[in-house]
Amino acid sequence: MSRARIVGIVIVAVVGSGCVAIYSLLASVARDPFAAVYAENCAVCHGAELEGTPLGTPLAGRDLLYGDSADAIARSISDGFPATGMPAWSKTLDPGQIRGLALLISERRANYGRTDFKTDAPLAIPEGPLESEQHRFRLEPVARGLHPLPFSIAPLPDGRILLTEKTRGLSIVSTGGEQSELIQGTPPAHDDGVELLRLVFGRGWMMDVALHPDYEENGWVYLHFGDRCRDCAKSMNKLIRGRIEGGRWIDQQTIWQADASTYTRTPDMGAGGRISFDGEGHVFLSVGIKGRSNHDGIQDLGLPYGKVHRVHDDGRVPADNPFVGVPGALKSIWTYGHRSPQGLEFDRVTGRLWSTEMGPRGGDELNLLRPGRNYGWPLTSKGMDYDGTPVEYGKDLGIEFDLEDLEQPVLDLTPSPAVSSFIVYRGSRFPKWQDDLIAGSLKATELTRWVLEGEEVVHRETLLSGIARIRDVETGPDGAIYLLLEHASGGQIVRLVPD
Ligand code: HEC
Repeated sequence: MSRARIVGIVIVAVVGSGCVAIYSLLASVARDPFAAVYAENCAVCHGAELEGTPLGTPLAGRDLLYGDSADAIARSISDGFPATGMPAWSKTLDPGQIRGLALLISERRANYGRTDFKTDAPLAIPEGPLESEQHRFRLEPVARGLHPLPFSIAPLPDGRILLTEKTRGLSIVSTGGEQSELIQGTPPAHDDGVELLRLVFGRGWMMDVALHPDYEENGWVYLHFGDRCRDCAKSMNKLIRGRIEGGRWIDQQTIWQADASTYTRTPDMGAGGRISFDGEGHVFLSVGIKGRSNHDGIQDLGLPYGKVHRVHDDGRVPADNPFVGVPGALKSIWTYGHRSPQGLEFDRVTGRLWSTEMGPRGGDELNLLRPGRNYGWPLTSKGMDYDGTPVEYGKDLGIEFDLEDLEQPVLDLTPSPAVSSFIVYRGSRFPKWQDDLIAGSLKATELTRWVLEGEEVVHRETLLSGIARIRDVETGPDGAIYLLLEHASGGQIVRLVPD
């Protein structure tokens, strides 16, 4: 059977099962809409593989003369350099095509395969010491043979680690690296997703696990999960807390849940599902694209999707939340306009709330979350939808907006590494990484260090590259940095320690 035929069948199967949100992803997998534009207009001078010809310079494998960012590349294409033989394309190509070509070139430069999600690329965990700008470090194995789709780790004060696996549930990894049986009595995790492109699209997943800041006194463990409605295949984010005693989940309380009418058949993949505490009695939770499409309800303050919510750690809504007095708005909303918020971290030293968010093709972001602000999805994005459409859904949604009123990302991560979770490092083992953000990524399989000066990222360093999809990053009580890796052959936990 031909590949196109398989993709066609898969599309029918997926649409038939209600996952319309991923239709465009699949449709564009068969064909990159911008590869043809490149082949037709650019390859003659720059070569089919961007390698250059006597008529045009290479566009990969070297620093670009006029700037490497997707924005700079788009400017080069648009304005051209007529004096040196590069036509200005703004007259012949539309802005969407130019943006798409800039994405294609920046992806190939970064060596990010557009559809290679690295779910089964060889696991490459280096054994020897590794050099970085500030510290020599090693990777130590902590646990192997986990489910291929883990989501979150929470190191316990005694050195054990709480672990969630999306389709299984909650368990504990011992200091010797052995995984316990599933903790009994938590809400069920569901394992009936569809597998496509080696990614799994399911509903009813176990997502983040986090310890209350006073865990040692009160024993509260928080779980963020996709709650399935009874006898139906719909799900929606829900936050609960409970305690673990003798392998059982007890004392469960609901901290945040959405109205039953908001549950959908959209997969939990873009649901966000993270948790963070401010240490002053509040908990934040991220909810991503869980509406009927990846645009649905994100800009609507009456719906829970595409929002970061804030509640007291017992679930009460704080009286000083930004939309408490706004008729029709959900009172738990803290910020809105988010797409797929995969990382959320409140920095208790600076009082800043950071979030990482996956864009579509391009447009991954690091954001600084300020109460009541709009982060723009799906009105605008530096990325494009997978089918090549620019992100400007304001028109379809009938929303008028001023670009000035939307918060811009602190970091535009284009091309998309598929940024995942991160920490603000404050451990004892890596003194020169204090206060830095250390972030994982899935598709790019990288661990990156972002150095902050106030609210700006002033330096970036890639600490690890090409090891495996990094789903979660946490600091252990020992000051080591723990990474949760996703892989078809089994998930793993490894830790970075100084060499
Ligand atoms: C007729 C030949 C020709 C064609 C067709 C052409 N280019 Fe170029 N392009 C050049 C040359 C020559 C340069 C180098 C200009 C310079 O260095 O001053 C260049 C430079 C560039 C640069 C800037 C490189 C840098 O070092 O910063 C980009 C980006 C680029 N081209 C993209 C494209 C894209 C995309 C297309 C197709 C839409 C395209 N070019 C079509 C000849 C061409």
